[in-house]
Amino acid sequence: MNIAIIGSGGREHALCQKIYDSPITNKIYCIPGNAGTALLAKNLDIDSLNFNKLLSAIKFHNIDLVVVGPELPLVKGIVDFLKKNKIKVFGPDKYAAQLEGSKAFMKSLCKKYKIPTAGFKICKNDKDVNAFLALHKMPVVVKADGLASGKGVIICQSKEEVKKFTYEIFSGKFKSSKKLVLEEFLEGEEASYFLIIDKKKFLFIGSAQDHKRVGENETGPNTGGMGAYSPATIINKNLEKKIINKIVKPTLQALKLKKHPYTGFLYVGLMINNNQPYLIEYNVRMGDPECQVIMPRLKTDLVQLLSASVENKLNKIKIKWGKDKCMTTVLCAKGYPNNVTTENKIDLSRIKFSKKSFIFHASTKMKNGLLFSNGGRILNIVVLGSTFIKIRNEIYKIIKTINWKHGFFRRDIGWRVIKKK
Ligand code: AMP
Ligand code: GLY
Repeated sequence: MNIAIIGSGGREHALCQKIYDSPITNKIYCIPGNAGTALLAKNLDIDSLNFNKLLSAIKFHNIDLVVVGPELPLVKGIVDFLKKNKIKVFGPDKYAAQLEGSKAFMKSLCKKYKIPTAGFKICKNDKDVNAFLALHKMPVVVKADGLASGKGVIICQSKEEVKKFTYEIFSGKFKSSKKLVLEEFLEGEEASYFLIIDKKKFLFIGSAQDHKRVGENETGPNTGGMGAYSPATIINKNLEKKIINKIVKPTLQALKLKKHPYTGFLYVGLMINNNQPYLIEYNVRMGDPECQVIMPRLKTDLVQLLSASVENKLNKIKIKWGKDKCMTTVLCAKGYPNNVTTENKIDLSRIKFSKKSFIFHASTKMKNGLLFSNGGRILNIVVLGSTFIKIRNEIYKIIKTINWKHGFFRRDIGWRVIKKK
């Protein structure tokens, strides 16, 4: 099969590696990809939101299956467009992608089907905001309704902060929507639970915990993710049953009733408190960097799995896992998640890889045969192993051999599962 992967991050490099490893794969095209995917695939410099141009390239290269990595093209309806043009594509349609594309849509669905989630109010003006504030104590979470590249959620400690951020959203700070959602603050530990879904069946495809804050000890602003590990040790069998019965099944049923059954990866973002799961968010795709720690553990052929989902044959598949745990630390450009200095040279030539260590590129590019940074999150250093402490030590050994003075990383990835002595 010829397969196209849309996206350019670490997630897409991890998917690309797994697709490359499959005997079913013939050629891979990454649109636009990065310097890492270029080692396994042909990168095509096409804007994936330019659907007509994308379609021409898909036809020209005889692509049999399109795998969509990031949320934006999904929310914009890439799946509906490609399907209408008879192209096989893995991912949810535009309606179902609202689970991530609109916080108001997702929270309204939770309310209707009594899915456990933080108490909330959808707000269109100051009057709505004041009504919520009159009834709730701080902290209050303000969320822009539409996609906001990870910058649309602020946990506010004062009413003044709420007023400031809600004013910005109502004034159009985020182009995707002028609505917002106010939420109660949930205490607990976060975990991510992943599914692969077709019209008839859903299968568990790994759990992970990531670290969203930029700084060690969970300080500083939120980022796309500074590191992750899999499996998420907090998710036990009993909790899993609750996640499936109270959250996943009612959601999938609701979308079926609307005649838009969910297909693709589904990322269930949870807060766990007292062994009870609360839905924080849905993402209609794999997580980044969670994908980078789930794919290396997966023993089932990914292409078989993706094809089965597209053909509604997931009921014929059993997903197999390796025994190892996996962790990644993200090497970022200084300044991230704010402005970063781009295009600095990186030297990876001194790294000694084992069979259980990899690098998945994120924002990187090649120029005149040399590797350069090209954004905020640059490289994912990924290691498999029997314990998280051994894995983390190995990751840091590798980072020491990377010659790149413009970067930084968190040294405390996995602190919850690596007990201090
Ligand atoms: P979201 O984009 O909705 O996932 O929010 C981003 C991050 O903000 C989450 O991963 C949590 O760390 C935090 N967060 C969001 N909603 C809440 C909430 N209701 N209570 C506590 N933390 C939250
Ligand atoms: N790591 C968080 C996300 O992918 O949204």
